[in-house]
Amino acid sequence: MTSTKDFTLGILTSGGDAPGMNAAIRAVVRAALANNARVVGIASGFEGLVNGEFRSLGPRDVGGVLQRGGTVLQTRRSQRFQEPKGQREAIRHMNEAGINGLIVIGGDGSLRGAHALATQGIKVVGIPASIDNDIWGSDMAIGVDTALNTIMEAVDKLRDTASSHSRAFLIETMGRNSGYLAVMAGIVCGAELVLIPEVPSTVDEIARSVEDAYMRGKTHAIIIVAEGSNIRTTDLARIIDEMDVGFKTRVTILGHIQRGGRPTAFDRLLAARMGTRAVELLFEGKTDVMVGLKSMGVEEVPLEEVTSHARELTMSYYEMAKMLAR
Ligand code: F6P
Repeated sequence: MTSTKDFTLGILTSGGDAPGMNAAIRAVVRAALANNARVVGIASGFEGLVNGEFRSLGPRDVGGVLQRGGTVLQTRRSQRFQEPKGQREAIRHMNEAGINGLIVIGGDGSLRGAHALATQGIKVVGIPASIDNDIWGSDMAIGVDTALNTIMEAVDKLRDTASSHSRAFLIETMGRNSGYLAVMAGIVCGAELVLIPEVPSTVDEIARSVEDAYMRGKTHAIIIVAEGSNIRTTDLARIIDEMDVGFKTRVTILGHIQRGGRPTAFDRLLAARMGTRAVELLFEGKTDVMVGLKSMGVEEVPLEEVTSHARELTMSYYEMAKMLAR
């Protein structure tokens, strides 16, 4: 590339939205414009790419979005993009728009889509954004810290009423197939028990833990249940009540509240660092990589590696949550 002023950069957000995506969009747009490049915003993720839903973005288009959750570009899960025909349509639209490089902000599925485009000659750099924190190659994804703070505030509130009524609260967190949010919430909220898909449990084991907490004189019990756990939260509550282990139960499914909210300072800073680095990598001619946070440094990680691994939960955190719950 002789000069970045000849460069047109495309940007899209894809998959489940995450707080901090707007901060990343803003960083990408401002960094690109600061280098005299042109920016094309692609609406509704890969679905918008297949449909050619493009619009030019200027500095004002990302004004006042830094502090907002969600994504101003919107996102959709796209069945059509999964097909070769849809990918061909997407590439055709990008060529017609003169897009020289694409930035994809999203989770594991989105990064697989980015890799698929890269293998067909599109220059693409990924930015990890998913509250699940299940993206290989980055210590943290954008949105995780905000989601964890949302969970923490909710659990602190639930603990108040659990104590007042001497109840066991089963609180379900998101994470699709990862127990990361549940485990970290268990640690920061001091939960008595954390149930995660990585460690299947039996109802008897769970009931014994709840009864043990009761017998140890605890005034309440907080049980964090990851949505992908092997026992449905509502079934578990009903069975524990039937077993009469001391505490009566109540259930709160946190759901999509974990996906919204004002991004924390950590997520805004992570988004700024990842967004600006992603633009630099495209200008340097890099492709088929993701920006990843490694021990607080931002590095490039091949998408081939990212998409062929799943980020595993560090089980020492799970053990820590159990130990600190005693
Ligand atoms: O991947 C992020 C995530 O929030 C998961 O934790 C959750 O299971 C899923 O998205 C929910 O997807 P949707 O928003 O399509 O219901």
